[in-house]
Amino acid sequence: MFATSDLQAASKPELYQQLATQLRALTDDETDPVANMANCAALIFNSVPRLNWAGFYLLKGGELVLGPFQGQPACVRIAFGRGVCGTAAESHALVRVDDVTKFPGHIACDSASRSEIVLPLLTKNSHLIGVLDVDSPELARFDAEDEAGLSIIAEIMAAKL
Ligand code: SME
Repeated sequence: MFATSDLQAASKPELYQQLATQLRALTDDETDPVANMANCAALIFNSVPRLNWAGFYLLKGGELVLGPFQGQPACVRIAFGRGVCGTAAESHALVRVDDVTKFPGHIACDSASRSEIVLPLLTKNSHLIGVLDVDSPELARFDAEDEAGLSIIAEIMAAKL
């Protein structure tokens, strides 16, 4: 059995490298997208420090619909272009927000969230599948190393969905 406490990283890049290895090991032989997203959310939430939410929104019928996650119950539907998730979905680009109160249209699902990073999940042909959303109760929690590490996690997941 894999326990996230097994991850002993000396640095943030190392932590994300180990996370990617674990994610590949957990998803390599499994094709079910819900199971893979559920394990990915649990892996991120339990191994990346100082988070209050980690999970997926999937593009369904022109809007984002809540997928597997860890954290407090969250808004179920987010319109394309709305909030941090909808902005990342519309632009097909990673969005990092240091202070969610300063992001116009931010959707406060969990009032504990202070900073947030959202990564688009794209097919090889650049079609949007959904987004990976990670929230922290700390201001400016995410930096370029988190962007790089979570981008690899998002790539692994996009290939499995
Ligand atoms: N804050 C997000 C909504 C999703 S929750 O954070 C889980 C947003 O503005 O899109």
